[in-house]
Amino acid sequence: MNNKKIVLVTGANRGLGLEAAKTFAEMGYYTILSGRNADSLDSVISKLKDQFQNIDSVILDMSDKQSIRHAADGVLSKYGKIDILVNNAGILIDDADSGADNSILTINSNIIHKTMMTNVYGPLLLSQLLIPKMKENDFGRIVNVSSAMGQLSDMNGLYPAYRISKVSLNALTIILHNELKGTKILVNSVSPGWVRTDMGGKNAPRSLEEGVQGMIRLATLVDGGPSGLFFRDGDQLDW
Ligand SMILES: NC(=O)c1ccc[n+]([C@@H]2O[C@H](COP(=O)([O-])OP(=O)(O)OC[C@H]3O[C@@H](n4cnc5c(N)ncnc54)[C@H](OP(=O)(O)O)[C@@H]3O)[C@@H](O)[C@H]2O)c1
Repeated sequence: MNNKKIVLVTGANRGLGLEAAKTFAEMGYYTILSGRNADSLDSVISKLKDQFQNIDSVILDMSDKQSIRHAADGVLSKYGKIDILVNNAGILIDDADSGADNSILTINSNIIHKTMMTNVYGPLLLSQLLIPKMKENDFGRIVNVSSAMGQLSDMNGLYPAYRISKVSLNALTIILHNELKGTKILVNSVSPGWVRTDMGGKNAPRSLEEGVQGMIRLATLVDGGPSGLFFRDGDQLDW
């Protein structure tokens, strides 16, 4: 088991996380799908088990510190390491259209807090818990699934909580990268583009397959590669 690269994908019970997890498993990576909802995760795993022997699952609620600690302890004691972490789980709960929570002037700060818990503090804590073993093993890839809505160079007024969270996630990428200079741990942000998922909606132009391309590329860098950068597919984005 220890010679095989192990990937942990958060929010892997549906959407981009599930698509990425299936792709990793197809590529031969030992893939751990995580999700906060046991029933949803079980139903996904029971469908995939026929096709893949190289998958497992763990309950992981990215807004709950205890759940994150429990999941990290569980996977580390079972597998000894996680080589590749894909921080994919995310929420966009700012009101759609012209609701009060879709303006920075009126948004309830609870919406910002809740969004930050899942989209930023969760990835931060999970990274803190998994990086020591990556350092020990002299290998690690962390992919933070961000969004063009987190680009400071193209900032707009709508979806303030989501935007603030993705800017912060991008900052996490840069800070981790700087702390990990000189190690073989690469940390990058990726934007999947606008993708047809529950979050993206059915009018989004990109398919799931297109959406996960950039994540897969950064997660599977073998002998070094970029770190501390932001990409969509293979193209570097401005922060
Ligand atoms: N779709 C797009 O157009 C688009 C564009 C830019 C960026 N993104 C980013 O891509 C990532 C995936 O988005 P998606 O489109 O696949 O969204 P999605 O279809 O809404 O799926 C979101 C996933 O995150 C999980 N999740 C939410 N809160 C969680 C928590 N507290 N703990 C654990 N898992 C949690 C969900 O699990 P449950 O089933 O339990 O809710 C679900 O698996 C997100 O980070 C999103 O911001 C998406």
